[in-house]
Amino acid sequence: MNAPDHALDIKAIQAQDAAHFLHPFTDFKDLASRGSKVIVKAQGIYVWDADGHKMLDAMSGLWCVSVGYGRAELADAARDQMMKLPYYNSFFQTTNVPAVELATRLARLAPSVDGRHFEHVFYSSSGSESNDSNVRMVRRYWDLMGQPQRKVIIGRVNGYHGSTMAGASLGGMSGMHAQGDLPIPNIAHIEQPYHFENALPGESEADFGVRAAGWLEAKILELGADTVAAFIAEPVQGAGGVIVPPHTYWPEIQRIVDKYGILLISDEVICAFGRLGHWFAYEKFGYKPDLVTFAKAVTSGYIPLGGVMVGDRVAKVLIEQGGEFNHGYTYSGHPVACAVALANLDLMEKEGLVERVRTDTGPYLAEVFAKLAQHPLVGRAETCGMVGGLLLLKDKATGEPFPSDLDVGMMCRTHCFDNGLIMRAVGNRMIIAPPLIMQRSDIDELSALITLVLDKTLAQLQAAGQF
Ligand SMILES: Cc1ncc(COP(=O)(O)O)c(C=O)c1O
Repeated sequence: MNAPDHALDIKAIQAQDAAHFLHPFTDFKDLASRGSKVIVKAQGIYVWDADGHKMLDAMSGLWCVSVGYGRAELADAARDQMMKLPYYNSFFQTTNVPAVELATRLARLAPSVDGRHFEHVFYSSSGSESNDSNVRMVRRYWDLMGQPQRKVIIGRVNGYHGSTMAGASLGGMSGMHAQGDLPIPNIAHIEQPYHFENALPGESEADFGVRAAGWLEAKILELGADTVAAFIAEPVQGAGGVIVPPHTYWPEIQRIVDKYGILLISDEVICAFGRLGHWFAYEKFGYKPDLVTFAKAVTSGYIPLGGVMVGDRVAKVLIEQGGEFNHGYTYSGHPVACAVALANLDLMEKEGLVERVRTDTGPYLAEVFAKLAQHPLVGRAETCGMVGGLLLLKDKATGEPFPSDLDVGMMCRTHCFDNGLIMRAVGNRMIIAPPLIMQRSDIDELSALITLVLDKTLAQLQAAGQF
């Protein structure tokens, strides 16, 4: 398994890659000068590059591959469905069996909170598209409610909601806004609930959580409550660096959205399907969204599928007062994607993965991270279910960061690649979202690899006189 793949001319593939493939979120010129890493196969929790290097994939691809690689059940489901009905649209009063079965299954899995139910699903093929659908649906809802002036959707700084015009606008990534005149009109942002960066000196997590939620109320009042349509947020910010909010944050957000009657969108593209130990993350934090965005792990990334769980508050209005909703995608309810999702959920249920994260591997990962927090480089270590973030600091006692031009995160990520581990660097936060099939022994292996790469990063910093 670890031998280079001699059938491949790696240099030729890298040259063609540079010549023809514009990668997402990439400096094209820089990548062309380095040459891409060619990933050729995967099994379980590991991937291999064309040189035969085996790497433990602690990012599940891109927060996707919850059931691990190489699951024949998912390939079989795709093949069977392709041979039966590979595609049909659902525009013209037609439907297909896997799309119906999956919508029914998701409605059963999404917990009701305080009598609020999720009985309906709107399908797309990705998280970004799903958030575009949210914008369309939210505005349509308020039009139908006779309040068309309620247009503004509030997101958060450093939130990530995708890369389409609407998704990138809802998100709060300044680098994305700087390209393409974003955000689009009627999107506003508040600060993120990141205690390390935004708390006052000596402010407790709990106090900070309430204060950070209060920024939503301040923004609503600044804009005028009757202009605000919805608030969108990730339960735990993923791409922003695994920012876990204080436990006081979500209850206060709920109080505020209730007070002003605005819709709450929970973007669970990363957090749903067991990642935090629940089928849906709003259950973990106990809030009551009106719309829930999903994608990625619904198929374990084996095939693109996304969508929005539409709660009864919105669904009732769209259905009963609606007329035609002029929005949808060629691949909404794609039969093959839905069949693969059903097979994926079957596997997750059969193997008890959600339960495992909640009661076993999630708490175990938290223990492991508490030990990693002792490492001299690690200033903060946080987990929530099977996501985790390590903040690398120059001085953990004072909280002094490394100078940004040192790019310590990328330095550490290079050591990861060189030592058979895939972690992601977000600034100086090293983050993970490992496959949910992991057992405790896999987490031990992960922990040993993380310790190794932290040691190597530390040695490099010391050699450079930076630590
Ligand atoms: C919370 C969240 N929303 C939306 C998206 C966008 O999803 P996609 O890349 O499938 O469009 C992502 C992707 O990482 C995400 O993390």
